[in-house]
This record gives sequence, structure tokens and C-alpha cells, in this order.
Amino acid sequence: MNKTFNAFWVTEQENGAFTSEVKKVPFSVLPENEVLIKVHYSSLNYKDALSASGNKGVTKTYPFVPGIDASGEVMEDKSDTFKPGDKVIVTGYDLGMNTFGGFGEYICVPASWVVPLPKQLSLLESMIIGTAGYTAAYGVIRLQRELITPESGEVLVTGATGGVGSFSVFLLNKMGYKVIAATGKPGATDLLKEIGAHRVIHRDEIYPEKKRLLNKGIYTAAIDTVGGAMLEALIPQMKQDGAIACCGNILGYELNTNVYPFILRGVSLLGIDSGITKMPFRLNVWETLEKLGTGFPERAYRKVSLMELPSEIERILSGKQTGRVVVQHSHS
Ligand SMILES: NC(=O)c1ccc[n+]([C@@H]2O[C@H](COP(=O)([O-])OP(=O)(O)OC[C@H]3O[C@@H](n4cnc5c(N)ncnc54)[C@H](OP(=O)(O)O)[C@@H]3O)[C@@H](O)[C@H]2O)c1
Repeated sequence: MNKTFNAFWVTEQENGAFTSEVKKVPFSVLPENEVLIKVHYSSLNYKDALSASGNKGVTKTYPFVPGIDASGEVMEDKSDTFKPGDKVIVTGYDLGMNTFGGFGEYICVPASWVVPLPKQLSLLESMIIGTAGYTAAYGVIRLQRELITPESGEVLVTGATGGVGSFSVFLLNKMGYKVIAATGKPGATDLLKEIGAHRVIHRDEIYPEKKRLLNKGIYTAAIDTVGGAMLEALIPQMKQDGAIACCGNILGYELNTNVYPFILRGVSLLGIDSGITKMPFRLNVWETLEKLGTGFPERAYRKVSLMELPSEIERILSGKQTGRVVVQHSHS
């Protein structure tokens, strides 16, 4: 085995700026965990862009290798849970936050974070899905638990062209739901319909002319990837017994709302945390994704190399990213 590997290396400069380069790093940079994995694919998520640009709420110390997602093959496992050559996935936990992540050709992680690659998925497909698809599936499962069925009514997805948003549209449609995709990109209507949207609306339509404690009940259910003012606008517009799976904070982490939608309409706000899901539930979510997660339209994802990451990171931070970005390592 080589003594070094390629990694997308993010450094904090003395002036406080953050810079990145693709460089060869020794294996000694990896933490001493149980499972050494040769990463074939990773994917770009919003959180990776935050880590790569020095957001200390995500990554505390630099130099660092981001990448909250990885799929690849086991090289060695000190816990003897996995055999060399086993194909596996790691998403979430501390990967790419404060444990060197999938933007490096190798990762070393605790065995308890590792999921065997579901039989019907390839390493590439698992990363087209990645944390974004996993989060979308988690959101749909939470809505189902609230008895939101395809017969209940349309499901709204906000940030619909984003990673979580586009996968939510895709999965909901495959499960028989009619999806309203809310986007700020009018040019993406055809793509969203190809992914599975029944109707596409401009995201500005969600903001009511006048925000009241209870607005007219319009939406049955939603997967909200945006948070902030978007979520504040949505809550009073939910119908009786409506449910919102809340997973993002693109517009901010604060939420100014009131209790009437909850106590007078029985609205549910469902929290989604894909990072620390316990393993039995995590495996359930991957089972769902094994059945429904393939066939994401080719037009809705791109494969990029480590060298291409800076422009992709800039695009996702400015809200201009569409669909999924898969990172392909040179040895895959
Ligand atoms: N809770 C969890 O477990 C979990 C897991 C994964 C991600 N997340 C969070 O979910 C959010 C989405 O992540 P992602 O990876 O899907 O990001 P992404 O690919 O960048 O998607 C975000 C989407 O939000 C929309 N958007 C951007 N700026 C906006 C604005 N000013 N107002 C309204 N909408 C705007 C855009 O879609 P349109 O142009 O189509 O409107 C954009 O594509 C992030 O906050 C991320 O941290 C949470």
C-alpha cells in the first residue's frame, strides 16, 4: 500500500483565512480508529461546504479533510466486524466534522459507524444518495409515522433543487405521493418534474401576504430544508393535523412562531437529525433506500474530482447548486 494518499486539505492561515489544496498526506494523519476504508466515492453536502470554508460550528480544528459521506472497501478492521474487501458506507456521526472525512482517499472510523453496502446498491449509487438522500428518506419515514399517506394530500418540499430537497421529491414521488416542489430557480421546473414533482412553485409563493397567528391552511405536509423565515411562514399555513419534517437551516437557526398551529390545528414539527441516528434505525433507512433510492435521473447529479471541489463548494454556499454532486476518487 502507498504511504501517502490524496486528500482535499483545508488549512487555517495566520490571518484567519481558510485555504484548500489537493495534496498527498501520510496515513499518520488519520485518527487511530478500528476500520481503515479505501474511499471510492464521497458526496458534497451543505455541511461539507461549511467545514471547507472554516465554519467552527462544524469543524473545530484545522488542518482538516471534510466529507461527511464515504463509500468504499474495508482495508483492515481491528474489531473483526468487517473483512478486508467488504463494501461499506459511512455517513454522519463525526465523519467530516472533526474526524477526517470522505474528501480523502482513506478514512479510519469506529466500526459502530460503518454500514454494510446494501446488496442492491453500488458504491456510486450509495453516494448519489449520501447524507442528502438519507436525510430525505428519514424525513419521509417521519411523515409516514404521522400517518401522512399519499391519500392525505400533496407534500411540499422546500429547497427542492438542493441535495436533500431533490432527493425528497424523488423518494416521495416513488412512494406514490404528489409533490409540490418549491424552488428559487424558475429554470429548474423541467428538471424537478423529471425528478418527480407533480407541481413546481416559486418559493416566494410560500410567504403569505400577511403573516397571522393562523393563516389559511394550505399544506398537508412538508419536508423543509430551508428553516428560518420559510419555516416560520409554513407553520401557520399547515392544515389540520399537518406535519413538517424540519431538517435545514439555510435561512437561519432561529424560529419565531406561536403555539396556535400546534394547539388549535394539531400541527407536528418533526426534527430530523441524520448524523447520530442509532444503528437499527439507520439500517432501516438504508433498507428503504435500497428499495427506492436508485434511478435518480442522470441529469440531476454530477461526478467531480477533488480538484473540482472549490467551485462546487462556492456554488452550494451561494444556494446555486442543483441536485447531487458525487466526489469520485481517482482509484475508484
Ligand atoms: N438535519 C439533518 O440531518 C440534515 C442533513 C442534511 C442536510 N441538512 C441541512 O439541510 C439543508 C439543505 O442541505 P443540502 O445539502 O440539501 O443543501 P443544498 O444542496 O445547498 O440545498 C439547499 C437549497 O436551499 C434553497 N435555498 C438556497 N438559498 C435559499 C434562500 N435564500 N431561501 C430559500 N431557499 C434557499 C436552494 O434550493 P432552491 O433554489 O430550489 O430553492 C438550495 O438548493 C442545510 O441547512 C443542511 O445543513 C440537515
